[in-house]
Amino acid sequence: MPYRLTVLGTGYLGTTHAACMADLGFEVLGLDVDEVKIARLQAGDLPIHEPGLEEVLRRNLEAGRLRFTTSYEEAAEFGDVHFICVGTPQKKGENAADVSYLDAVIESLAPHLERECLVVGKSTVPVGTAQRLADKLARLAPVGGLAELAWNPEFLREGFAVRDTLHPDRIVLGVASDKAEKILRDVYAPLGEVPIIVTDYPTAELVKSAANAFLATKISFINAMAEVCEASHADVKQLSLALSYDERIGGKFLNPGLGFGGGCLPKDIRAFMARAGELGADQALTFLREVDAINMRRRARMVDLARELAGGSFHGCSLAVLGAAFKPNSDDIRDSPALDVAATIGREGGRVTVYDPVALDNARRAHPELNYGESALDAARGAHVVLLLTEWQEFVELDPEELGAVVATRKIVDGRNALDADVWRTAGWHYRALGRP
Ligand code: UDX
Repeated sequence: MPYRLTVLGTGYLGTTHAACMADLGFEVLGLDVDEVKIARLQAGDLPIHEPGLEEVLRRNLEAGRLRFTTSYEEAAEFGDVHFICVGTPQKKGENAADVSYLDAVIESLAPHLERECLVVGKSTVPVGTAQRLADKLARLAPVGGLAELAWNPEFLREGFAVRDTLHPDRIVLGVASDKAEKILRDVYAPLGEVPIIVTDYPTAELVKSAANAFLATKISFINAMAEVCEASHADVKQLSLALSYDERIGGKFLNPGLGFGGGCLPKDIRAFMARAGELGADQALTFLREVDAINMRRRARMVDLARELAGGSFHGCSLAVLGAAFKPNSDDIRDSPALDVAATIGREGGRVTVYDPVALDNARRAHPELNYGESALDAARGAHVVLLLTEWQEFVELDPEELGAVVATRKIVDGRNALDADVWRTAGWHYRALGRP
């Protein structure tokens, strides 16, 4: 392979990118400022839950193609192409994105850049960030303009990170020169036939914001329909199914339920609105305020339904919450709708016991005030109401009789429209779901 790659920042995105690029045959050096994390990764011990990733990590560590470091000097010396994969979280108390980790990477890396290289941003950023960072890079790097910046947004989903990285739907390259385009085309050539869109920095940055805004809007659209269904005794699950056969609409991201959470969609639509406001284009995105509001109303509606089943108040009521991760196949609890609902019910006096197949440790750290079970049945023991809030397969496959044998009363709210209502009702459960009669 002609190029040696570094990956700066080893969170969900960076660890996946580093391991997968090594798997394609590149020599890769991963960097993070967190020494504990780097020691674990170097030992082949994945600090996050991501299906299939640990195998890819270990395979490439053993093959000697992948290493980890905390030294920017070493990274600068090693890499021909440096991928920046740090987070851009929501600023405290504001909607805007905090891009300070990106600035920190450029400030740490650039002073060591003694030779020609390409620095490639993959993070989701407010449009305009790439140009600002490109200027900063050229100013701080000893090689000046020979350290060039490109923007290459990442679209991977947690839970499918390896698959999405090795089989992306498309690759977007925001570049300032033909040379940068050629290098990135070479780097991604081992992926085979993938549509590549070559464009400028702001368009590349906006593609990512627009994609997440569209996905969030699609989910909130069907959840808005759920609200109307609730008011009219219609069934949003059948409505969604009927819509999905229209090829122009499609069935993906049309699952009604508790709505979206996670480290991306909620904060990205807020950051997008904030940036549009700065640019004087806020009117264009006011609809996203409604998308966000619809999404948050689902959580409130869930709490209302649970309270109704609890008999009007949570006091003296035991509730089992199945799911803590923001979605199945992930241990990520950032802006998790499930934990948000669990915490609200806890504050309102309910005795809440949470179970999740992989996110329990993260949930315990974030919400020590809640109770935790060792299994779904354990969490449900003695419960007056069961809430299914993250649609893990093991919850979808729960046996209503087995669960019914341990609860105090057979009442369940299906927050993800994941269960077969008829099966549960036949087993004597009071079954309720968001958006369904
Ligand atoms: C998302 C984007 O999909 C990805 O392209 C981007 O790079 C990062 O943000 P991710 O946050 O990993 O990825 O999860 P995703 O699978 O998109 O789900 C987001 C949230 O939407 C979850 O909370 C999920 O439960 C919810 N969702 C999804 C629904 O409520 N209904 C749906 O139909 C689909």
